[in-house]
Amino acid sequence: MSNIDFAVIGGTGFYQLAELDEVERTVVDTPFGRPSADIVIGQFGQRRLAFLARHGENHSVAPHRVNYRANIWALQHLGVRRVLAINAVGGIRADMGPRCLIVPDQLIDYTWGRPGSFCDADGVKVLHVDFSEPYNPTWRQAVLDAAHRAGVPIIGEGCYGVTQGPRLETRAEIARMCRDGCDLVGMTGMPEAVLARELDMEYACLALVANWAAGCDPDNAPEISLDQIFAYLSEATAKVPDILRQL
Ligand code: HPA
Repeated sequence: MSNIDFAVIGGTGFYQLAELDEVERTVVDTPFGRPSADIVIGQFGQRRLAFLARHGENHSVAPHRVNYRANIWALQHLGVRRVLAINAVGGIRADMGPRCLIVPDQLIDYTWGRPGSFCDADGVKVLHVDFSEPYNPTWRQAVLDAAHRAGVPIIGEGCYGVTQGPRLETRAEIARMCRDGCDLVGMTGMPEAVLARELDMEYACLALVANWAAGCDPDNAPEISLDQIFAYLSEATAKVPDILRQL
């Protein structure tokens, strides 16, 4: 039995969990290769957490090159049953501007060419997992309740459109995604969510809005500034430990 309560996968702008105590770092070799970084296990208040930097600790792994299978497999190998994924996103919906925190309840996958299943070798049993609800509803609710207890404003639904990256989208692409029903856009939500489902792990996403998606800025800024993205992200990221403390 694992003694890890849950794992946090940190996204852009979230490369370590500074509040972890009694830290041990674990290198896990998986049948799919190496995870993005060492998995850091430590004490966070009463809880024992695992932390993994999705893009590596120096942000050296682009969204389309993340070894999602190795990351999820390694966490499960360490006994993790629940994953909270932190993802930087762009806001499409009018109430989802920069610095907002959102726990989406749906996603649309626009990525391509990413190894997206563990059923990927001759002879393995093929799983057709139910993905009607891509995020675990109970775990999502626990995250929302924790945010409420922490007094952190948060939006409890939304559809996350996952694009290939690493470039940002055109205005026409975002207009199409908006017609499709996407409220947020990011590059790392898939295949991570479905891989966790294949391994029967409870998975929820905490999306941090870093910018208005292309063409969505009510002030019509002509371009999306990377410096601004990182400034907004660090404001949103600063609220995450308060939520974790309540989880
Ligand atoms: N598009 C895709 N991914 C993102 C964005 C965006 O505008 N902002 C942060 N991650």
